[in-house]
Amino acid sequence: MSSGPELFRSGSLVSAREPHQARIGVFDSGVGGLTVLRELYRQLPQESILYFADTARLPYGTRSRAEIVQFVREILTWMAQQQVKMVIMACNTSAALALDVVRAEFDLPVIDLILPGAKAAAQEGDRVGVIATPATAASNAYRQAVQEVKPTAEVWQVGCPEFVPLIEHNRIHDPYTLEIAKEYLQPLLEQEIDTLIYGCTHYPHLAPVLRKILPRSVKLVDPAKHVVAAAAQELDLMGLRNLHAPLPTRFGVSGNSEQFAQLSIQWLGCTPLVETVQLPTVSPQPLSVEDSAAC
Ligand code: DGL
Repeated sequence: MSSGPELFRSGSLVSAREPHQARIGVFDSGVGGLTVLRELYRQLPQESILYFADTARLPYGTRSRAEIVQFVREILTWMAQQQVKMVIMACNTSAALALDVVRAEFDLPVIDLILPGAKAAAQEGDRVGVIATPATAASNAYRQAVQEVKPTAEVWQVGCPEFVPLIEHNRIHDPYTLEIAKEYLQPLLEQEIDTLIYGCTHYPHLAPVLRKILPRSVKLVDPAKHVVAAAAQELDLMGLRNLHAPLPTRFGVSGNSEQFAQLSIQWLGCTPLVETVQLPTVSPQPLSVEDSAAC
């Protein structure tokens, strides 16, 4: 598969594979990463993006650490083959369960949402709620990251297993979604949180529903905003900012491309051209005792 079209500049053919012109790889299990893509369009409009959604295997949030590590290995192997210059894990579950393992295995800058999101939350408040997938909540990744920045902060994490399937089935405005959201938020409201982190990239899509339940005083932190700021800094440090016009975003999914395209229109404002991608086979490697014990 080609890594993207070639560009004509000053009458000569310039390969889009020049390091700074390469795409930024962004991945998630589904449409959650579009909340990160939206921020990329806002903050880094000149960057070219390769977006991958592992829709054939979603949701990630109820899977084991070994499965997530394997999925992320396959995705990063494919992204490296596409010659991306950086990868943004637009998936908290992947970051919480696989970041350390894959960072050691791949020679690619891999940026994640958890520390940038936690830093922003620590600046906003002292009583922090986190809504996340069951796997992210159980990993304690957000509590650890917030308390690393602000040891006095109190952090409560709630796993919300139904949110991702509801969003992926386009049921955001279904009355059932409001009911289940009330249930998930109740323990956080009882703790009188002052700040709420979207600990899953799908959840900002639920903002109109969550806003109906949360008191106005609760500040919402969307790590997508902060991970893109972190990516911008990293690009500057590496001298890899694209100064030319971006290529159109390339979308790939492991599942049904038409279904993804139809669902995404509401957030993208246009119909994306989506290809189905066959991820490379990567032989599974056992996790070290330390890694597997953490799950
Ligand atoms: N959007 C992803 C996250 O931030 C994955 C959600 C899922 O597939 O369960 O965790």
